[in-house]
Amino acid sequence: MSDVLSVIVDGLWRQGSQSLAIRLVAENGQPLPAWQPGAHIDVHLPCGLIRQYSLTGASGVDDGYLICVAQEPASRGGSRYIHQQLRPGQRLTVSQPRNLFPLQTAERLTLLAAGIGITPLYAMALSLAAQNVPFMLHYYVKNREAGAFVRELQQRFGAECLAVHDSSAGDSPRQHLAQALAQTPVGQPVYLCGPAGFMATARQIAQAKGWTDTQIHSEAFHPVATQAHALDEETFSVTLASTGERWPVPPHKTIAQVLQENGVAVPLSCEMGICGACLTPVVEGIIDHRDSVQSAAEKSASTQQIALCCSRSRSANLCIDL
Ligand code: FES
Repeated sequence: MSDVLSVIVDGLWRQGSQSLAIRLVAENGQPLPAWQPGAHIDVHLPCGLIRQYSLTGASGVDDGYLICVAQEPASRGGSRYIHQQLRPGQRLTVSQPRNLFPLQTAERLTLLAAGIGITPLYAMALSLAAQNVPFMLHYYVKNREAGAFVRELQQRFGAECLAVHDSSAGDSPRQHLAQALAQTPVGQPVYLCGPAGFMATARQIAQAKGWTDTQIHSEAFHPVATQAHALDEETFSVTLASTGERWPVPPHKTIAQVLQENGVAVPLSCEMGICGACLTPVVEGIIDHRDSVQSAAEKSASTQQIALCCSRSRSANLCIDL
């Protein structure tokens, strides 16, 4: 199976005042690979950028992929291209769906979305409803006009499982999150998606109320704040478990760059530690994790993976499973 898929922009329409929904279908007319709620794809834009977007809508429907892109005032180019230049009929390349935010089986769940963070959680809500799993979705929007999928959500779900909170009417996450979590039994799985500040606040409140890290699931397509780099970094070496080849990784290079320079293929996409494309098991050594893809539990598990595009080593040598 090819790693990338050729797709056509089948439709593009306004979702709220700030976002565009985009339907992608296979260029060859065949069904696209199946996906589960929480999955995302890398979209290779003609301007040379690669961006990650969650798949949304109903996951079981063989109707192409639906993504939704907010217009970001501080766009690094991806959302600007999509909002200003992408047109129906245009051909794009996308990755296979990758799921780093899977829904786990539970008797009941709470979903907390803010802004465009609704996209994976909208897919989750549809899937839970189809399986008759009870859930409560709190959706925080700047105002009702700005929110994506507000009308679709309100058509599908009643007040027993959906609450749309309008910040412009004084119902902001800051004012409401504590209440939402107070109404939720401690330990019930919570799924979060939205701006970094929203997710940090929700996580903080949940942890203060007794949730453990593993009961809070989140996804953020934003790079973690970079730690001090270059000057105070140290050189370490990276070793391939399969051949024993070893190369130094100097402060100004990533492990991925060193591997590529030596002819080792590294699957790269975001190169910012946010997509998971380059995650590779580590056989020996202590990882200095710098990605925002893996959870704290995954970063301290007995077997760990390293994001080759950004993470480094705390030990003199790191042996990776390549
Ligand atoms: S390339 Fe995306 S996490 Fe490394």
